[in-house]
Amino acid sequence: MTITVTVIPGDGIGPDIVDSTVRILNQAGCGFRYEYADAGLTALEKHGELLPHSTLEAIKRNPVTLKGPLTTPVGEGFTSVNVSLRQQFKLYANVRPVISFKGTQARYDNVDILTVRENTEGMYSGIGQTVSDDGLEAEAVSRITRAGAERIVRFAYDLARREGRKKVTAVHKANILKSTSGLFLQVAREIAEQYPEIESNEMIVDAACMRLVMHPQEFDVIVTTNLFGDIISDLCAGLVGGLGMAPGANIGKDCAIFEAVHGSAPDIAGKNLANPSSVILASVQMLEYLGRHQEAQRIVDALAKVIAEGEHTTRDLGGTHGTTEFTEAVIAELG
Ligand code: NAI
Ligand code: MG
Repeated sequence: MTITVTVIPGDGIGPDIVDSTVRILNQAGCGFRYEYADAGLTALEKHGELLPHSTLEAIKRNPVTLKGPLTTPVGEGFTSVNVSLRQQFKLYANVRPVISFKGTQARYDNVDILTVRENTEGMYSGIGQTVSDDGLEAEAVSRITRAGAERIVRFAYDLARREGRKKVTAVHKANILKSTSGLFLQVAREIAEQYPEIESNEMIVDAACMRLVMHPQEFDVIVTTNLFGDIISDLCAGLVGGLGMAPGANIGKDCAIFEAVHGSAPDIAGKNLANPSSVILASVQMLEYLGRHQEAQRIVDALAKVIAEGEHTTRDLGGTHGTTEFTEAVIAELG
């Protein structure tokens, strides 16, 4: 049966790097049908809203969505489209793998870390964001539920088990944030006992940041709450050559959206400079999610080869080429 993928090209560099990815999926013979939909600034300009109903319907209708970065206009009372999507579709798990590819500007050459970030609770729950009338005090509520913590920690261990990974590190700040991070850590310890074949450890977030920079090879799977996961996963992207190499999956019970970790990069939009690897690797995560491991591996191998050869890569990877040339080199490699 042909699978239909909802494709949201997005804003800024989005349309170019999503187009690269669709060309590569086609070249790899994936045989998908694509249903295009708008979101973000592009949707606001075309349809008068950031997240049109037809886009929500398309995401709901098809098993997977491939999405470019979206610009949320700042200071105009708009909620982030990404946050809305995660909440509306209950995409509770944000899975952000980073691996070192030979030929990047990365600091390390043997990093393979999977950050599993809780995507709907914590500091990003959106609850109680107030500023006092005199503008002197501001508040936001961080909310962690036992159910939410259990769901994400279990997800991380199940994924570790499926991928044959050896260790899960729970990252927290339970020494200071005793209620919220405390509950998360308590749940993480309970769940860890149910996976005796996987090594479990825990680390306070600030110490984890230092160790990630100094000894990233010590890490395998990281599971953490929303805000820490947001920050740590960008740090991890930095370990392997930057945001252009970092994909992310937002996974819920009935729906999954695959995207780049980075934003719409307005500074390089429309200049044929963006590295499409982030969305290409997001499509690899999508193929894995669909159980299509061989196609996923073929694309990773082709991408790795082009990056390692270094003759057709983009500026962020130390090359001199554009999005199009890079994409064409990967397509040629796929044969
Ligand atoms: P950004 O991630 O767009 O850019 C940060 C830096 O990384 C820029 O210098 C950019 O040129 C570079 N960069 C990003 N992706 C790259 C790629 N594929 N190849 C080469 N270089 C790349 O972050 P920024 O500028 O803070 O945000 C821009 C917009 O994106 C904002 O409107 C923000 O709200 C939105 N955003 C959207 C996200 C999403 O849709 N998932 C995530 C983060 C930000
Ligand atoms: Mg982020």
